[in-house]
Amino acid sequence: MAKKSLILTIGLLFIFCGLSVAEGEHKYIGVKKCSMCHQSDAKGNQYKQWLSTAHAKAYERLGSPEAKETAEKAGVSGNPQEVGQCLKCHITAYGADGSLLDSGFKKEDGVQCETCHGAGSDYMAMSVMQDRDKAIAAGLIMPTEEVCVKCHNEESPNFKGFNFDEYYPKIAHPRP
Ligand code: HEC
Ligand code: HEC
Ligand code: HEC
Ligand code: HEC
Repeated sequence: MAKKSLILTIGLLFIFCGLSVAEGEHKYIGVKKCSMCHQSDAKGNQYKQWLSTAHAKAYERLGSPEAKETAEKAGVSGNPQEVGQCLKCHITAYGADGSLLDSGFKKEDGVQCETCHGAGSDYMAMSVMQDRDKAIAAGLIMPTEEVCVKCHNEESPNFKGFNFDEYYPKIAHPRP
């Protein structure tokens, strides 16, 4: 009898483990890992382009005097670099379980590649990246305006309006 229930318990455990893997939660690897393959000028140097945008400085910005002012006006108390009301749009993977953050991931890097392209642990391998269908199946997102307006909206205390055709060229990083 005891043996049977032990087998049942083990069986159930396997089913649960199987389910959590099947959910396919990808991990955030951080911009440094993406940069290893995306900083060749001949291919458009997406890393360098990103570094030149406000997105790369979005976390740092929360430490500025302007951010303090913003928080006061918005009635948000506490350090903007620590409160969810600000972090949710100024870093990558806000709210994600700690187990989904790879050791190289740093919130200090602000709005990183994976904010728009999806968590990269399963698509970052060369053999996957070279095949768009495989990469998309492994979690790669080719973002559209829908992704932008998750943050560029009226919930932002400094919202200046959002026009995709005007904003996108400022952050575009195409291959030549
Ligand atoms: C091991 C090298 C490598 C790593 C690491 C890597 N990539 Fe790539 N990536 C490539 C290659 C190779 C391509 C194919 C196109 C090319 O040669 O530029 C590509 C293509 C892409 C594309 C375009 C896909 C398409 O079909 O147009 C995106 C978007 C992208 N990578 C994002 C990322 C992001 C975000 C990360 C980090 C999470 C990342 N890559 C990490 C090598 C890599
Ligand atoms: C809903 C997303 C969102 C939230 C929440 C948010 N921000 Fe922002 N923040 C943005 C966006 C997007 C911009 C870029 C401004 C623009 O172009 O609309 C921005 C810009 C800023 C700037 C730059 C100033 C400027 O005029 O561009 C500061 C400072 C700032 N935010 C501080 C904060 C603080 C402090 C909080 C928390 C009280 C906060 N933000 C909450 C999305 C957000
Ligand atoms: C996770 C939230 C988030 C997403 C998604 C996002 N942004 Fe942003 N964006 C920000 C924040 C925060 C800032 C302001 C950073 C700062 O000034 O410190 C910003 C700033 C910008 C700026 C600079 C605006 C200025 O006033 O200088 C442009 C341009 C921009 N974003 C374009 C885009 C586009 C295009 C997309 C979609 C492809 C997008 N963003 C997606 C959070 C986001
Ligand atoms: C704010 C959102 C955003 C961020 C951050 C971002 N991208 Fe992109 N990326 C886009 C959009 C939008 C496209 C165009 C998608 C399309 O063409 O369908 C794109 C396209 C690409 C392409 C394909 C270019 C081409 O011409 O085929 C590559 C490669 C790429 N991104 C890599 C990166 C890497 C690496 C990073 C970080 C260093 C990064 N992206 C950060 C939004 C973003």
